[in-house]
Amino acid sequence: MRSWILLAGALALVACGEGGSSDPPARAPAPVPPPAASAPGASAPPAAPDPHTPPARPVLADGAAIFRTRCATCHGESGDGNGALAGALKPPPRDFRQAAWQESVSDAHIESVISQGGPSVGLSPIMPAHPDLDAGQLASLRAYVRSLAR
Ligand code: HEC
Repeated sequence: MRSWILLAGALALVACGEGGSSDPPARAPAPVPPPAASAPGASAPPAAPDPHTPPARPVLADGAAIFRTRCATCHGESGDGNGALAGALKPPPRDFRQAAWQESVSDAHIESVISQGGPSVGLSPIMPAHPDLDAGQLASLRAYVRSLAR
């Protein structure tokens, strides 16, 4: 008799155990908020400097101003070669307005004469060097000399 009771009890235990033995599924950990993109107050890093120096951009007005103060005494205000000193110069400065001359020389020739003087391109040392001019001033003067063409 007793064995029946034990067996029933055992069955009951097994039945109960099956139902309640499974643990609830483990909860996924709460997502960690992503770190802030940048610390508060931190500014974006400065753009990397351009490794290539951009070519000097000529400014015609700058070239005109430099020409008036440094060149016109010999070359003339209009670049015609009749500056105040021109009569004393041998050879005399040429007329920059002549299209044929403009077409015969390169920009590099003009900039070389101006910055390094006449001898740098086989001309007279009477044409003085202007080594203090920076690339932008040189480009501006060259552009101004080009603009004198008629
Ligand atoms: C002291 C007078 C004098 C001054 C100042 C002077 N030049 Fe000259 N320049 C000359 C003479 C003279 C020549 C001609 C040289 C030759 O033909 O051998 C010349 C030649 C040149 C040439 C070359 C022309 C060619 O035949 O290819 C250029 C370009 C020029 N000068 C530009 C300038 C500019 C720009 C300035 C001012 C920054 C300047 N010069 C200042 C006297 C001068």
